[in-house]
Amino acid sequence: MLPRSAKIHKKRGNDRKDEPPAMKAIEITKGIYWVGVVDWTLRSFHGYTTSRGSSYNAYLILDEKVTLIDTVKHGFENEMLERIKSVIDPEKIDYVVSNHVEPDHSGGIPFIMKYAKNAKVVTSMPNGLKGLRAHYGEFDYQPVKTGESISIGKRTLSFLQVPMLHWPDSMMTYCPEEKILFSNDGFGQHLAASERFDDENDLSIVIEEAQKYYANILMLYGRQAAKALTDTKDFDIQMIATGHGVLWRKNVAKIVELYKKWSAADLDEKAVVVYDTMWHSTEKMARTITEALRECGISVKLFDIKTTPNSVGYYDIKKNPHADIMTDILTSRYLAVGSPTLNNQMMPTIAGFLTYFKGLSPRHHKAFAFGSYGWGGQSIGLIEDELKAAGCEIILDKIRIQEIPSTEQLEEIRQSVLAYKKA
Ligand code: FEO
Repeated sequence: MLPRSAKIHKKRGNDRKDEPPAMKAIEITKGIYWVGVVDWTLRSFHGYTTSRGSSYNAYLILDEKVTLIDTVKHGFENEMLERIKSVIDPEKIDYVVSNHVEPDHSGGIPFIMKYAKNAKVVTSMPNGLKGLRAHYGEFDYQPVKTGESISIGKRTLSFLQVPMLHWPDSMMTYCPEEKILFSNDGFGQHLAASERFDDENDLSIVIEEAQKYYANILMLYGRQAAKALTDTKDFDIQMIATGHGVLWRKNVAKIVELYKKWSAADLDEKAVVVYDTMWHSTEKMARTITEALRECGISVKLFDIKTTPNSVGYYDIKKNPHADIMTDILTSRYLAVGSPTLNNQMMPTIAGFLTYFKGLSPRHHKAFAFGSYGWGGQSIGLIEDELKAAGCEIILDKIRIQEIPSTEQLEEIRQSVLAYKKA
């Protein structure tokens, strides 16, 4: 029998999954269970395109003190509840550890607290406490700081605050007896899968999604990510139980090495060319630049920013390619951005991309601007200004061509790219 308030919550909050089939907990190691939710249909996570869906991972530890680590996004609480109930009565939960206030992890706290009436909510001090109170009001909170721990019986849970990974409140929870790091957003991927571990999935896809996740969620906080790696370097970690996607057990060292590289902005000899075009002139320039970079031995990816128009031909923000472009930019030393001039500006598509790019605080990139124009030609200078504002080193003068690029002009572009690499 559900508490009355829980029934109301179910009616309002779980319309997507009103009557889920029996959901079972998945044991990830003896006595510790994954009780989360796979969100197969998620296609946008606050503007980040999630073409492979995601998961909201919650973990149940059966010990003298029964502990739930994180919950799920609001709307999916019943699935989590079903999984918890498959191993224990949820009223027996003693602790709910909230590693992160963002609602994709904390959204299920009010729901589960209606069952776990005597549970304490463990959260970081002061930002977790402040955030949970703002979102959900009062519970029996137990605020913790880095270095503090609680004993739950045979096991200990130690807390490490990792501010800005990905909000000011974020923390990770380490269980030394099990050698598991419950990392929340860190090391996660937006990836829906029926198997829970890295070695049960296609590793190239898992790493691609981990890179996409880092590029779009954590790249802005590279220095904080590097600090978190330093703070955890003495932890013996056999498993990373993430807040999203699959858990790492076979490739822990590999994902930690990748995080070191990404957080150091250690770039490869690769390039990204991004453009919009009206009548194909800027497109011709983009293709010429791409070929010239390839001639220089640089691996290139070319993105027409409008490659995903909706059914009536308009740019669809839900399908925006920014997240995919940033995934490649994360490890590429070079970036070329092009746009024709429209109403004395760059195309809004490119302006949107540059705003997104700048917001992620890229480091160590070498860049240049290009574009064709009919008259005026302001877009190229405006792009260069944005690239500078984003911290890029400008390596080629603005490449501007009025009207249609001739064969000779395209050859001049090629030569200028080759000359830069020879210099
Ligand atoms: Fe997965 Fe910052 O939440």
